[in-house]
Order: sequence, then structure tokens, then C-alpha cells
Amino acid sequence: MNQDEIDNLNEKTDIVSLVSKYVKLEKQGKNYKGLCPFHNEKTPSFIVSPEKNMFNCFGCHKAGGPLKFIQEVERVEFPEAVRLLCEFNGIEYKNTKVKVNPNTKYYKIMDTAKQFYNKFLLNDESSSVALEYLKSRGITQEIIDDFEIGLAPNKYDTLYQVLTEMNYMELDMADCGLVDGQNGKYHDLFVNRIMFPLKDDKNNVLGFSARIFGKADPSQPKYINSRDTKICKKSQILFNINLAKSDINKKHRIIIHEGQMDVIASYKSDLKEAVCTLGTALGIEQIKLIKKYTNNVIICYDGDKAGIDSSKKAIKLFKENNFNIHLVLLPDKMDPDEYVMKYGIEKYKEFFENNIIDDTEYLYQVSLIGKNLNDKNELNLLKKEVFSLISSQNSQIVVEKYLNRFSEYLNTSFDAVKADYDKYKNNYQPATVTNVVKPIKPKVIYNTECELRIIYYATKSKNKALEIDEEIRNDLSAFSEESQLLWISLINDYYVEYNEFDVNKFVKRLSDVSLNQYVKLNKVLGESKIKDFSDEDLRECINKIKEIKLRMKNRNLHDKAINSTDTTEQSRLLNEMFENKRKRENKRNSGGNVWILKML
Ligand code: GTP
Ligand code: MN
Repeated sequence: MNQDEIDNLNEKTDIVSLVSKYVKLEKQGKNYKGLCPFHNEKTPSFIVSPEKNMFNCFGCHKAGGPLKFIQEVERVEFPEAVRLLCEFNGIEYKNTKVKVNPNTKYYKIMDTAKQFYNKFLLNDESSSVALEYLKSRGITQEIIDDFEIGLAPNKYDTLYQVLTEMNYMELDMADCGLVDGQNGKYHDLFVNRIMFPLKDDKNNVLGFSARIFGKADPSQPKYINSRDTKICKKSQILFNINLAKSDINKKHRIIIHEGQMDVIASYKSDLKEAVCTLGTALGIEQIKLIKKYTNNVIICYDGDKAGIDSSKKAIKLFKENNFNIHLVLLPDKMDPDEYVMKYGIEKYKEFFENNIIDDTEYLYQVSLIGKNLNDKNELNLLKKEVFSLISSQNSQIVVEKYLNRFSEYLNTSFDAVKADYDKYKNNYQPATVTNVVKPIKPKVIYNTECELRIIYYATKSKNKALEIDEEIRNDLSAFSEESQLLWISLINDYYVEYNEFDVNKFVKRLSDVSLNQYVKLNKVLGESKIKDFSDEDLRECINKIKEIKLRMKNRNLHDKAINSTDTTEQSRLLNEMFENKRKRENKRNSGGNVWILKML
């Protein structure tokens, strides 16, 4: 699409009905008013003007036209926003440069299956037992609608027949993990189960989680999840991310549960920012997906032993990825669903909000659970657990606070606990790697100008830009987040469409963040004392970025080494780190002394 067509698309969109898909609007004079979808507020400061075809928030100052709105609310890059807006307007989206998504046919099949199961649950007379079961678990009609819950019939090939009648190919159905078989003999994989669709953040159905109900064979598994397929990668799925994302954006936090019933319990209780994995431990791919939305996680797993063990693993993983971590520990080994069934949604929400604790507090509390203080061995075990936790704290105030609480808990004097703690530290500390390697204090590096210069060079010509991109693609995380976004807009969006750089066309396509960064670029480079833009200068900037990336890698290795309890793993990590350092120093010694070194 060219700029004219894009302008046209913006103009022909009725912004009021577009925004109404996401925000409840009320008319006020010439304009409409509602609660801003981009920040959390109680009184509306979000205005939509049909006259200007613009939105504007007086609270968070986000403003723009229809495309901008889609980009922000769906958190997508420009081309995807264009596609969505075309879809909204019922216009065929023609952009020859964008490849057709090869998964579209699978999404269609999965969507059809979802609709079939849902209609079957709501309309077929044989579904009364399943509906009763859902009701008994507190799942209302509204929840069935929101989550598009369904029922797989108690027959071996109903879905297969339905899909065949709609002319879908058998092999494609099988590729979706819905049917199995060969030579024209196929059967459904889900029979007589309640079907929870698993969706991605764009609402595509990727698979199903299917629960047993009623008088079923007890030897059968409680849940059967779709097998991994071309579109369904369970390690990447977060159940409910499609509905949760707007609340995550508004509340700047995400809640992680263990099961989908727990997510539904939270959803009912106005904690709509809740998601879960599918009975498997949280993995790095899910962590990355979460990082897209927020840095603040609240882990709320089952309150039993298994839930606590999984929480500990999750804490570790989130820590390694620099999240702000909080937890909620439910009483009496309950899971959120059980709590809601027992006490109701109001009490659950109240308990949840009032019992959000940090990871240290959580680990302290769970270490006390189930220990018999009258048994010397158990007491010893508890001591070690608590002391190990305390000794990992950096703050002396925190250390004292917990020693104090521990002494109160044990009903002994602070001095006695402190004496044991000191003894523990002397016995256990010297062996750990923390004492062997001095923590590397990350040098504060003034790298902003460096990355901005690189972006500036990329605006010189498309060829230059692609050349640079090829070289720094893998080091892009050394850029600030804003610069990364700006870079992606330039390379993956602007230069896909245009061959020449044109400032006016470029800035029109930028999101708020990228635009700010571009303004900053012009400002910083305008004020820069160093005017000698040259190939040599570009090379230095690229080297600098690569060095920063290496430093980030090393910091990561160092943190991992410190946190690891396995000594062989520790020495491997440390070796790798020193090797990197050595290489870096060699490189630096051979480099010239150009402007960038003067800035350090
Ligand atoms: P309900 O009994 O429906 O309340 O389930 P729950 O949410 O309390 O589940 P539970 O704590 O037993 O397990 C947590 C999650 O693990 C579930 O939501 C499922 O996604 C998954 N899960 C549980 N049982 C099975 C099973 O038998 N097979 C598989 N593949 N996954 C399971
Ligand atoms: Mn449960």
C-alpha cells in the first residue's frame, strides 16, 4: 500500500466504532468519552473526536488516528495494524510484499472446530450433563461465551464429518491434531470432553485443552491437550493471553497460575490479567512472550507442595530474566479455583490484593510450613533453609529483619539466632563462588549516541541500511529498547515499502516510542561535538555495540555462575566468561583511538 492508500484507509475508518470495540464510549457534546485503554484510570479522560477522526487521552497523552489506535491497542507494528484496519473495514488487504501466512489454513480449521464444539455445547440436547458439570464448577454462560468453551461429542468422528463436509483436507485436519487415521479412515482425537480453546495473543486458535467430566473412565487422564503441531507449540502458549493482554497493559502486571480453572476463577474475580501454562513448567519462550507486555509478575500457584516447588522454579527463571517478582500464597493448600468456590469472588480478590508478597518473603514463609520445631533434625533443616535465604540478601536491614522475625517465630532471643547465623555463614560461605569472584560492576557506558549514529547512517541509503542490519542483527539487544523499535521500523517496515529515505514518509509510520527516539536522534546528533560522520566512524560504532553485547553476555554468565549450585557448571560458565573477556581485550588493544573511546 502506498501513503495515499494508507491515508485513505485512515480517513474512511469510523473511529468511534473502531474504538468502541475496545472501550465503552459515552457521547459528550460533539465527542465521545471513555476509560483510557492505555493506562489505568477510574474517571474517563480518553476522548474520541469523530469530527477530527482522532483519539486523545488527557491522562497519558496518547493521541492519533485509527491506525495509531490499532497499533497501540493491539501492540503491533505498522504493517499488521494496516492489515487489521483493512479487516475492520471489510476491505481486501493487498500488499504484495507481505507474504501470505502459510498457517492461515490451519487457523481456519481450528476456528471452525472451535465454533463447532461451542455450538454443540450450547445447542445439542446431549450436552446437558456437560452443562451441568460446568455449572457445578461455577462456569456461567458468560464465561462459556468469553472463553468460547465447547464440548466434543461422544462419537468418534463427528468433527471429522463436519470438517469434511466443509471441504477441508484430511491431511490438514490431522496436521492440526484434531483427527488421526489414514486411507480415508479417520477418527476424532477429542471425544466426550469439555473443550477449552488455546489461543495466541491475536486470537488465533492454536489447540485445545480437553477436560474429562461426569461419569468418565477414571483411568483416563484429567486433561488431554492438543499435541504440538505446526501452529500449536505448547511451550509458547499462555492460556488466556488474548483476553488478558488489555488488562496487563492497563495494570502493568501479569498473574501466572497453574491451571485454566484458576485463570477462569481470577477472570471472574476481575483479575483478568491472569494466564497459565498447560500443566507444564514455565519455559523461556513463555517468559519472552510475557516480557513483551510487562516486567511485573505475580505468581499464584497452588498452595500445596507441588505448587510451592513449581513457584520456586518460576522465581528462579523470572529472576534470571530480570523481572519484578511477587507471589500470592493461598491458605490451606488451595488453588485459586477452590478458594473462589469456597469463599466467593469478592473474598478471593480481596485476599489476593492484600497478600501480594515479594519473593524473599514467600520463600521465608514456605520454609516454615510443616516443620516440627520439637524435632532437632527438622529444626536444623529449617535453620539451614532460612539462613541460606537470608545470606543471599544484599541489604543488612533485610538480613536483620528476617533474623528478628525468625527469632520471634522460634521463641528464642535475637542474639541466639544471630550467633547460629554467624556460625552458619562461616561454615558455608567460603565454598560458594560469590566469594571467589568479585562481582563485576557494570561500567556505565554512554552508548546512546553510538546507537543513534548507527541509525543515522542507515537513513543514508537502503543499501547501507541493509548492510548494517546484516552485521548488527544479532547484537541489537545492546541497543536501548527505544532504538531497537526505531531500527525495526526502519528496516522491517519502512525500507520494505520504499527504496529511498524520505523523512516525511518515515515519521508518518512511526509509533509514539519510535517517533520520540527519532526526535532524540536528531537532537543528539545536532548537538554532538563530533561532526566527522564517516565509514570509519560507523565501523567504530558497530564495534562498540558488539562490545556492549559481549559485556551483557558476560554479565549474564557471571550471574548464572553465582546462582548455580553445580560446581562443574560454575567453572564452565566462569571459563567462558574469562575467555570472552580475553578476546575482548585483545580486540580493544588492536583498535584505533577514535571519538568513541574518548567518550568513555
Ligand atoms: P481442575 O481439576 O479442572 O480444577 O484442574 P486444575 O486446574 O486444578 O488442574 P491441576 O492443578 O490438577 O493441573 C493444572 C494444569 O495441569 C491443568 O489446568 C492442566 O492444564 C494440566 N493437567 C492436569 N491434569 C492433566 C493431565 O492429566 N494431563 C495433561 N496433559 N495435563 C494435565
Ligand atoms: Mn483445580
